[in-house]
Amino acid sequence: MTGKVPTRQEALDLLHQYNESESLRKHAYAVEAVMRYIARKRGEDEDKWGIIGLIHDLDYEKFPDLHCVKTGEILQEQGWPEEYIRAALSHGWGICCDVTPQTDLEKFLYAIDELTGLVVTTALIRPSKSILDVQVKSVKNKWKDKRFAAGVDRSIIEKGAAMLQIGLDELIDHTIKGMQEAAEAIGLKGIPG
Ligand SMILES: [Fe+2]
Ligand SMILES: [Fe+2]
Repeated sequence: MTGKVPTRQEALDLLHQYNESESLRKHAYAVEAVMRYIARKRGEDEDKWGIIGLIHDLDYEKFPDLHCVKTGEILQEQGWPEEYIRAALSHGWGICCDVTPQTDLEKFLYAIDELTGLVVTTALIRPSKSILDVQVKSVKNKWKDKRFAAGVDRSIIEKGAAMLQIGLDELIDHTIKGMQEAAEAIGLKGIPG
């Protein structure tokens, strides 16, 4: 393996350097939190999973038409390990690149990226506007409602779950619990009272 393993702080600095948008930063924190939660549950390298989650959309704000391509270039310039770069790119498999998710890390990243968006919208329609009381069934109820979180491609999430050979309920459960750990950072702690 080549490249120096980045610290979380280095990854965060890079994220902030390339992403000024608050919503893109929050998406990065959400994906990081879910990847961390799943890695911990599975006894995997939590920092590695989290850091890759944090920077997976690194280029999206500045180079939306070259999404994934630019992330690869930037991380290469930064001297990141090939394993990290490949994993970050694989979330865009069939969308903006042809890097197939192969490892469990890559498959989870692919599966939960879109799902975080669905969970955010589910939290925001609650009176509390809080992720803390979102349940699996609240997300499942909106699965077939095409007008709800219309930008979220459910078929990608389903494809990801199939690759992992896990049920949608389990994937949704992990995603909610991971995001709950970052409730404050992703702005979904809810309205007071
Ligand atoms: Fe992306
Ligand atoms: Fe993303």
